[in-house]
Amino acid sequence: MTSNWMKIVLKAQKIKYGKNLLLKGAPVIFNKKGASMEFGDNVTIKSSFLSNLVGLYSRTIIVTRAENAFISIGNGVGISGATIYARKGITIGDNTCIGGNCKILDNDFHPIEAESRNKLLSDPHGGDSDLVPAKEIHIGKDCFIGCNTIILKGTVLGDGCVVGAGAVVSGKFEAGSVIAGNPARVIRKITHE
Ligand SMILES: CC(C)(COP(=O)(O)OP(=O)(O)OC[C@H]1O[C@@H](n2cnc3c(N)ncnc32)[C@H](O)[C@@H]1OP(=O)(O)O)[C@@H](O)C(=O)NCCC(=O)NCCS
Repeated sequence: MTSNWMKIVLKAQKIKYGKNLLLKGAPVIFNKKGASMEFGDNVTIKSSFLSNLVGLYSRTIIVTRAENAFISIGNGVGISGATIYARKGITIGDNTCIGGNCKILDNDFHPIEAESRNKLLSDPHGGDSDLVPAKEIHIGKDCFIGCNTIILKGTVLGDGCVVGAGAVVSGKFEAGSVIAGNPARVIRKITHE
């Protein structure tokens, strides 16, 4: 059930959400002006320590951080204590499970070059955030993302991918890939024979 105050928070930020949004604990949700965020039907977001018995280290945090950034979360998606942070865009397909404590970050938060990084850090207005490397992330439908994974900018996971616990993922992976490790590599393919 979505509490009334959370509905107010979502509506005030022009966030669209479907039927049966289930919140266990209070997530942190911030949608920047000019950005878009939407949740499909039957989405579950867990944010309290024991709402997933894997043990959540933090509340779920879902953020668009730049004008024109977008986050689109499909029907039936489950999210447990994850951070989903977009400067460009992140899509998550229907019925994908995001395991406990995942970080899905479509940007590096800081520029790579020290000079640019220092310039941004010293600017009280945040400076030119285009200097922060960012690329969209697309996660297909029916994926299973293990706990404590980190999914980095530019990642594309096809439908039905499985990501092993603790993986650090960067790159493009075909539908039905089981990937694991740091950097994550394909350990097998799921076949339906
Ligand atoms: C990725 C996963 C699904 C693979 O399961 P599986 O297909 O049964 O694979 P196996 O256990 O047979 O392991 C196959 C190989 O991958 C390796 N492997 C499996 N999971 C791994 C992981 N998370 N990281 C690194 N290597 C992993 C194994 O060591 C094994 O290597 P080997 O062939 O050299 O011996 C599973 O290990 C996993 O990580 N599940 C996620 C659990 C989780 O986080 N649940 C959500 C909680 S909220």
